[in-house]
Amino acid sequence: MLFKQQALLRQKLFVLGSLAIGSLLYLVARVGSLGRLQPICPIEGRSGSHISEQIPLRTLQFQRGLLHELRKGNAMIEQIRLHNLVQQLPQAIIIGVRKGGTRALLEMLNLHPAVVKASQEVHFFDNDPNYAKGIEWYKGKMPFSHPHQITIEKSPAYFITEEVPERIFKMNSSIKLLLIVREPTTRAVSDYTQVLEGKERKNKTYYKFEKLAIDPNTCEVNTKYKAVRTSIYTKHLEKWLKYFPVEQFHIVDGDRLITDPLPELQLVEQFLNLPPRISQYNLYFNATRGFYCLRFNIVFNKCLAGSKGRIHPDVDPSVVTKLRKFFHPFNQKFYQIIGRTFNWP
Ligand code: A3P
Repeated sequence: MLFKQQALLRQKLFVLGSLAIGSLLYLVARVGSLGRLQPICPIEGRSGSHISEQIPLRTLQFQRGLLHELRKGNAMIEQIRLHNLVQQLPQAIIIGVRKGGTRALLEMLNLHPAVVKASQEVHFFDNDPNYAKGIEWYKGKMPFSHPHQITIEKSPAYFITEEVPERIFKMNSSIKLLLIVREPTTRAVSDYTQVLEGKERKNKTYYKFEKLAIDPNTCEVNTKYKAVRTSIYTKHLEKWLKYFPVEQFHIVDGDRLITDPLPELQLVEQFLNLPPRISQYNLYFNATRGFYCLRFNIVFNKCLAGSKGRIHPDVDPSVVTKLRKFFHPFNQKFYQIIGRTFNWP
């Protein structure tokens, strides 16, 4: 009898204990996501006015879920109307540079509750057949969002494609342009590594980086090699400056985005007139990946795909030195134009 009573008591204590732990976990989860979600941003609108809107946390969580469903193509037309969701042309574009960290930048900006991203590279302005489909086709490629949110897309080929600045200018002459750059030689090697991996996947052989980057006839840097040309940032930027004033660009330090992303993201928030919402909570270093990963809330976090952060092949140090010497004057010009310097050798 006494044994039965004790068992009953233990059972009751177990249920009470589980309830207490469950409630505690729930509270922690709420607090964890509060910092990111609750204070909804007064975003400076395109007209320059501030829209100050307080949306309760539960509504926001529901809306996030709804946006997720929309992305998966599951939501109903009525829901789109009911929640006043729209597809908007981007108010900011990450124009490049290839291998600069464009994916990391887009994904990290998407941590901000007022930012929605086009998940795929749209290649509207650099691809003639796509461009011929018209601006409504482009808009149709954008995610659903609330009118107060801003849409961002990234297509790194825009930066180096001749026709793109004029085409973007025709769409929106006051659009904000984000360019993420890395030390030019490292970027060129990263570019090469991506192509090499593609060749290896198809069981094809490929030249060594040194053979491509140095002209065997002159022993000088081979400026016909695309990975070298792409890293001459000033040459490309000058073409954009025929259409847009330099103030319309924000240059992100892609090397620092790897080692210490938060300050770079805070500068972008300022440039986009967004209230600061991305915090250290949203970014954690993953030692296995060797990179920062993203934390949306207590349950949802993610690292970038394995194709981001490849191991680069060793490059002959004399070739590295030659390339760095080659890029030096172009880098100086680039610093002068953008009014910011980087720790490039
Ligand atoms: P590597 O593969 O050379 O390391 P992009 O998205 O423009 O193709 O750029 C890819 C680069 O983003 C990678 O180049 C990687 O170094 C960099 N990167 C920056 N932050 C990263 C992150 N948090 N996770 C993975 N890669 C990141």
